[in-house]
Amino acid sequence: MNNICIIGAGQLGSRHLQALQALSIPLNITVVDPSQASLQTARERFEAVQGSANHSIEYVQSLENTAHNFDLAIVATTSNYRRQAVESLLQYCTAKFMILEKILFQKREDYEAVGKLLEQKNCKTWVNCSMRTMTFYADLPSKISKCPLTYLVTGSNYGMITNIIHYIDHIAYLTGCYDYEVTTGALDPKPVASKRPGFLELNGTLTAHFKDGSHATFNCFEDGDVPFLVEIHSKEYRCIVRENERKAWESSPKNGWQWQEVEAVIPFQSQMTASLTENILQTGNCPLVPYEKAAKLHLTLLEALSEFLNNKSGQKFDLYPFT
Ligand SMILES: NC(=O)c1ccc[n+]([C@@H]2O[C@H](COP(=O)([O-])OP(=O)(O)OC[C@H]3O[C@@H](n4cnc5c(N)ncnc54)[C@H](O)[C@@H]3O)[C@@H](O)[C@H]2O)c1
Repeated sequence: MNNICIIGAGQLGSRHLQALQALSIPLNITVVDPSQASLQTARERFEAVQGSANHSIEYVQSLENTAHNFDLAIVATTSNYRRQAVESLLQYCTAKFMILEKILFQKREDYEAVGKLLEQKNCKTWVNCSMRTMTFYADLPSKISKCPLTYLVTGSNYGMITNIIHYIDHIAYLTGCYDYEVTTGALDPKPVASKRPGFLELNGTLTAHFKDGSHATFNCFEDGDVPFLVEIHSKEYRCIVRENERKAWESSPKNGWQWQEVEAVIPFQSQMTASLTENILQTGNCPLVPYEKAAKLHLTLLEALSEFLNNKSGQKFDLYPFT
């Protein structure tokens, strides 16, 4: 039987766990979280879904002094515990494959240290920037046909910083370009509390300029109820995506730039993890962004944000206060 481990069984980790009920091959699952309350909620969410296989599952508060050999580990703690969670896992156990949640880590040095550890332990790792796996967003390269792109993301109070890495990763996926610079001058200098306690968010406008000439504008209004909207423009294709309505409008010269409404489903994590897990177990691969590329995309963004916060917010930060 394949051994799967979920580390961090909070809001998202419990959804990764729930997704495993959709796998028809029986699994040995270990769920790790120091919080009994999180383990209890995860158990309830897992048991609320009828599975087709009879998985064996254990809920533990730590992996210390255990010696599991995991085929896949999914690390869904918040960013402040992620390095520690990876190090502790690989100290006591082995993992052939790993999926890490974004935002990866809070300190610059964590990116290289964890990268080296994963290489040493021969653990193939991806980061869960999942737009590459969503049919509408994943199918865009063939439609866009020519880069560079103009990419716009806007709305009210949608957690811009925690979400921006998804869109940056999507641009890199569409263009093949991982080199970019960030302009922070139009961000609001005052950070606000994130919906996840202990972390921060920023509102205002951030722009990203990619080496291939693509550029992106991310805008978040602190108040109001401006609906969330994504726009992607190239010379041969444009689309407007209203993710909350699971709809997009596309146009291209092929149809005289007439707008056409299409489905744009943003699946829940509990619907995505099953196929990622199946892919990894069967082929040793999956469509998520590999660790090294994701680390590069993260650091460009986080270093620019860190410089902005330290220069403009009136406070000093020795870590990236985001998750
Ligand atoms: N990829 C996505 O689309 C997506 C979506 C939502 C959240 N996220 C990311 O997932 C992460 C978790 O978010 P959340 O909302 O589930 O947070 P959460 O606070 O609900 O859950 C985090 C859990 O990690 C546990 N934890 C802390 N230290 C641990 C350790 N050393 N070992 C094991 N567990 C530990 C906590 O007890 C908690 O239960 C965040 O970084 C968030 O940005 C990603």
